[in-house]
Amino acid sequence: MRLKNKVAIITGAAQGIGEATARRFVAEGAYVILVDRQEEQLKNLVSQLNEFASYYVLDITNRDALSKFVKDVADKHKRIDILVNNAGITKDSLTVKMTDEAWSDVINVNLKAPFMLVQEIFPMMKEQNNGVILNASSVSSLGNIGQANYAASKAGIIAMTKTWALEFARYNVRVNAVAPGFTATPMVNTVPEKVKDALIDKIPLKRFAEPEEIAAAYCYLASDDAKYVTGQVLFVDGGLTCGF
Ligand SMILES: NC(=O)c1ccc[n+]([C@@H]2O[C@H](COP(=O)([O-])OP(=O)(O)OC[C@H]3O[C@@H](n4cnc5c(N)ncnc54)[C@H](O)[C@@H]3O)[C@@H](O)[C@H]2O)c1
Repeated sequence: MRLKNKVAIITGAAQGIGEATARRFVAEGAYVILVDRQEEQLKNLVSQLNEFASYYVLDITNRDALSKFVKDVADKHKRIDILVNNAGITKDSLTVKMTDEAWSDVINVNLKAPFMLVQEIFPMMKEQNNGVILNASSVSSLGNIGQANYAASKAGIIAMTKTWALEFARYNVRVNAVAPGFTATPMVNTVPEKVKDALIDKIPLKRFAEPEEIAAAYCYLASDDAKYVTGQVLFVDGGLTCGF
């Protein structure tokens, strides 16, 4: 077991990559604290993970809710070993048509919320002199038509990952990012079949990732197998970004 007795917080854990990561972390011996806006799905997942998980229903863009949440976790668990900033949204449109709201919503969830959560949690990791922070980037961090907001958030999280790796290394806190390619989750399942086929054609491994394959990358980076790895971005994309 690679994460035995570790306490991990995973945001956006009600479905998709976050859910798969929660399941994998529990299988590796961790206790997971699941955060999402979707109560029913969280409740259902926690009931399957038995005594190894609990959940909080909150909107991660709400600073007061985050502060309260972290205080509660600190009181109950006394430590936080791993934070996975996984929650993310898309609101796509071409730049000329993108509304201020679509810009702000995506930046707030994908970039500002991880920033706020790290501000709340880092003091505890510093005191422990130990911790791992993992962030969700994307192949879209390299640029993607119709995703100026999302691409900026996913490139921004890489910049924050590297900055935090530098700022926190002296306290034995490692910070890395995972950049998934197209992954079969509710986020991409709405893509029309024709578009999916065209995308698959561009992927050297000729398929989308399964959420469990992204969870495996989070598991590696969270574990002591990666204890000398910090400030890195692990692209898990079936080779999509190779060859340029
Ligand atoms: N699926 C992909 O192809 C893909 C590719 C690259 C990167 N990613 C990134 O991986 C992460 C997970 O993606 P996914 O496909 O599993 O997404 P998903 O849409 O299936 O799940 C995201 C979860 O985040 C939660 N969430 C969103 N906003 C929230 C908020 N304000 N407060 C609390 N919870 C909130 C949602 O309720 C949902 O359960 C995201 O950051 C995404 O950008 C996904």
